[in-house]
Amino acid sequence: MNIRVENTQHPSSMPGSEFGFGRIFSDHMFMMDYNANEGWHDARIVPFGRLSIHPASTVLHYGAEIFEGLKAYRRPDGGVQLFRPIENIRRMNDSAERLCLPQIPEDEAMEILTTFISHEKEWTPSAPGTTLYIRPFLFGNDESLGVHAVKNATFVIIASPTGSYYKEGFKPVRIMIEDEDVRAVRGGTGYAKCGGNYAASTRAGERAEQMGYSQVLWLDGVERKYIEEVGAMNVMFKINGEIVTPKLTGSILPGITRKSCIELLRSKGYKVSERLLSLQELVSAMTDGTLEEAWGCGTAAVVSPIGELCYKDIKYAINGGKIGELTQSLYDTLTGIQFGRSEDPFGWTVRID
Ligand code: PLP
Ligand code: COI
Repeated sequence: MNIRVENTQHPSSMPGSEFGFGRIFSDHMFMMDYNANEGWHDARIVPFGRLSIHPASTVLHYGAEIFEGLKAYRRPDGGVQLFRPIENIRRMNDSAERLCLPQIPEDEAMEILTTFISHEKEWTPSAPGTTLYIRPFLFGNDESLGVHAVKNATFVIIASPTGSYYKEGFKPVRIMIEDEDVRAVRGGTGYAKCGGNYAASTRAGERAEQMGYSQVLWLDGVERKYIEEVGAMNVMFKINGEIVTPKLTGSILPGITRKSCIELLRSKGYKVSERLLSLQELVSAMTDGTLEEAWGCGTAAVVSPIGELCYKDIKYAINGGKIGELTQSLYDTLTGIQFGRSEDPFGWTVRID
């Protein structure tokens, strides 16, 4: 692939180590355009800057946008590596298919990602727990107001030195079970990583935050009976020794961290059930003490212990509000592989250098 490089004339350097999440960006971005005649073309790494979009652009009116989230990790030997990037590329193409946006061939997408991160690798921080968060996004860019599969699109990748997603860091978060708004329904776009899902989630998230909670736990959109996922992570529960995580019914994002946690836990001999988990079963387990641990998992959130769930104003402390033993060991094992501190028996990591 031919990727043109235009370096910035105003290089900046990475500030300190208090990055927060997604607030500062590296010096360059990747861009590539699509139209029905030429396909994907003009792949380029250019100085980070504003995009110019036609006021009738499809993305502004009909939400034709999908995105991904993955990270570059600084290894102890100073090198940089990615974690399961092919999974993000495949999910991005699944999301594109759902929103009638053009897909990018896997090998080209991988070349783009590794070339761009190699160019920006000095922006991968090295303080404990910090990473370079990578945000690929793809949007419809027709300059007309008709509603149809787009004929023009743009693909961009930006990168952001990042600390912990939750202000708590690796500490138990408090989550509110949402029983009013719904995030997604089967047959909808729940399994796709599209901006619209997050727009639909914001009101409930804001309400929860005002009440002192980090995010909401969504119930299924039809019966409001089954546990689905949290705003930016999938969920797992240890109930009476069994690890239970909601099965992928089509309205839940198929998380790459979820998949990795399941594979890690099974490799250690744990029984992991991907099944429907009703709110009633969860409330019973919280009441009778059989719920031992709960955690969320996601790229930004990593493995996040859940210390409290609240449903209809009743607060349920989980594991006394402390980090559970399994949650801690899962966090240690996963981050050990991601940061290259431990061996990678699954071949999940991709070295950039
Ligand atoms: N669920 C939602 C709604 C998310 O936004 C995310 C984050 O990407 C996840 C789950 C976890 O997915 P992954 O582990 O691939 O980051
Ligand atoms: C991620 O974990 O990569 C996400 O995309 C979560 C994000 C919506 C903050």
